[in-house]
Amino acid sequence: MGTAGGANGADGDAVARADAELLERTRSAPVLAGTLPHFDPEAAPAEPGPLFAEWLAQALDDGVPEPQVMTLSTAGADAVPSARVLILRGIDTAACAYDFATDSRSPKSHDLAANPQAALTWYWPAHGRQIRMAGPVTLLGEDATRRDFLGRSERARAAAFAGPTSAPLDGPHAYHQALDEGHRIVSAEPSRVPATHTLHRLHAHRVEFFQADPPRFHLRLLYTRTSPSSWTRTLLWP
Ligand SMILES: Cc1cc2nc3c(=O)[nH]c(=O)nc-3n(C[C@H](O)[C@H](O)[C@H](O)COP(=O)(O)O)c2cc1C
Repeated sequence: MGTAGGANGADGDAVARADAELLERTRSAPVLAGTLPHFDPEAAPAEPGPLFAEWLAQALDDGVPEPQVMTLSTAGADAVPSARVLILRGIDTAACAYDFATDSRSPKSHDLAANPQAALTWYWPAHGRQIRMAGPVTLLGEDATRRDFLGRSERARAAAFAGPTSAPLDGPHAYHQALDEGHRIVSAEPSRVPATHTLHRLHAHRVEFFQADPPRFHLRLLYTRTSPSSWTRTLLWP
């Protein structure tokens, strides 16, 4: 694919005006609107895992769109941060550990191989809630990885056989051809798992719960792990 030239002259003025209008619309778009749930940090549990489970369950109960989608941030050997959204694939409330699946050939996997530390972020707008966590990441074993893969739809499994995530693609044709081949593999060998399918686990060491409360003040509660089974709790300035 080629690259477009920069805008200048009359075109540049039109682009600048369009940017200004877009920014105006952006500024007036509602944020943290509606009735937000109540959060009492004084009543929060001693560990963050149960609070995460409670907030996620409330998001599901109230129909918050796609609450299982989270942002994973990594930085590899070059220390350049990179973030993308993924699906939450595993929850261990007692350990405060959360899983995600990906292709071992993807840039995020390379980042994690070089620097096995990451952050996960959730934002549930209808509840005015953000959860941030960070900690070391490990690879889960073959059994868990297999269960994760075989629990997916046929289409998702076929796609996983199709090609290396984030490698340059020659065009839609190349993808459709590889997807057809993926479907053929899944039909012929329904229990086959691609060697590149990996399941990672983030073991949270810091977890911050943010509850927006526009009429009063936003609440931020930070949990910091001090040992495998103990945490400190600190309120943060909003
Ligand atoms: C809603 C949504 C869910 C996604 N879920 C996953 C996922 O679970 N695993 C994954 O590897 N990529 C997932 N992706 C694609 C990633 O965001 C990303 O484009 C891809 O993994 C390549 O990332 P990388 O180049 O940083 O490795 C998802 C994308 C969207 C929009």
